[in-house]
Amino acid sequence: TGYITLDDGYGNTGSCKSAITYIDGDAGILRYRGIPIEDIAGRSSFVEAAWLVIFGKLPTVQDRNRFSDLLTENSMMNENMRKHFDGFPTAAPPMAILSAMINTLSAHEPAVWSAHDDESIERAAAVLLSKARTIAAAAYKSSIGEPIVYPRYDVKYVENFLHMMFSVPYREYKPSKTAVKALNLFLLLHADHEQNCSTSTVRMVASSQANMFASCSAGVCALWGPLHGGANVAVIEMLERIRESGMDVKEYVRKVKNREDGVKLMGFGHRVYRNFDPRSKILRAAAEDLLEEMHVTDPLLDLGRELADAALSDDYFIERKLYPNVDFYSGIILRAIGLPVDMFTVMFAIGRMPGWIANWKEIHDDPKGRIYRPRQVYIGPTDVQWKPRSER
Ligand code: CMC
Repeated sequence: TGYITLDDGYGNTGSCKSAITYIDGDAGILRYRGIPIEDIAGRSSFVEAAWLVIFGKLPTVQDRNRFSDLLTENSMMNENMRKHFDGFPTAAPPMAILSAMINTLSAHEPAVWSAHDDESIERAAAVLLSKARTIAAAAYKSSIGEPIVYPRYDVKYVENFLHMMFSVPYREYKPSKTAVKALNLFLLLHADHEQNCSTSTVRMVASSQANMFASCSAGVCALWGPLHGGANVAVIEMLERIRESGMDVKEYVRKVKNREDGVKLMGFGHRVYRNFDPRSKILRAAAEDLLEEMHVTDPLLDLGRELADAALSDDYFIERKLYPNVDFYSGIILRAIGLPVDMFTVMFAIGRMPGWIANWKEIHDDPKGRIYRPRQVYIGPTDVQWKPRSER
């Protein structure tokens, strides 16, 4: 195949130039727009981090107020969109609903995504961020057969999401400050992570000049798989399986090493981090604080800790430089807040939305951008004769 170089899984291919997120995988460094993640975590809200990721600098008070107003104004779904929910079966996976409904936004809001000046792009970003949250909560309500709850106009982004998730007609849900803080942290730690599978997907779609909403709905689909965003569900399922079977964690580690039943240690390993995942460090501490503040004990946190310690002292994991990633502890936080397991990957999607939008925008803003069109190494036959049906 001549000049084509194969890089299986793109382990060593830079697919683009980007000024959004910096990662040094050997040193465990993650920065959004040059600011270390440790400085953003606990100081900024998710919305502030989102604006930083998308627009390249910390928002001024004016930026922040304007963007908050845009989020509030655009929090309601188009009333016609609610009809789509009637078509989904009860118990449909919320990720299936989210990806379909974000694409549906393109149909309901063409005026929003078809304008290309800076003001319109900020509006489109706010529409997507705000409505993705409303759709996510509605997907959950629909999946449990409860009526969809309208957003409020007097509470912030995360509170509003929890309100739409957990309020019922006879009782308004008021989340605790601790839960709101923890969810803000969870979301902002997911806000961007350079060219992961879903973000590369968004850029691929965006490179054809597809609109922001269509590009980001492709990102939701890519995120769903268990090797990517679906890992936060897979971790909890793995911990539950271990607990129910009464298996010793060392026994599970042995199974992983021997690839018995094809099991992996979910929530471990990363293509880029070869030392530690800084998000996982922050989330482990946050999970411990959260459970303590909420006076909750979760046997899965203890089991997770034990499993991580057993793996981290095992040669298999040491040699391969496998460490807990962002998905290892995040599920413990989401469980403590009361979110059901099938919403975990949806939460990741809401968190990653700023990164997808920022990457879409980077492509959109580049006048010299070329369509993404990787090559392949063809390995099939080259000289096959066509035969009439009677001879096949
Ligand atoms: N458990 C057991 N062995 C593993 C694991 C694991 N979690 N991860 C990697 N390995 C082994 C892998 O089998 C290979 O061994 P060998 O050299 O003997 O064939 C070696 O480590 C190198 O791994 P790789 O498969 O080349 O790594 P990759 O960069 O292609 O895949 C990964 C990265 C994250 C998909 C992988 O580590 C994995 O499947 N982890 C579990 C799923 C998971 O937690 N995903 C979330 C990733 S972080 C957030 C996100 O992207 O959503």
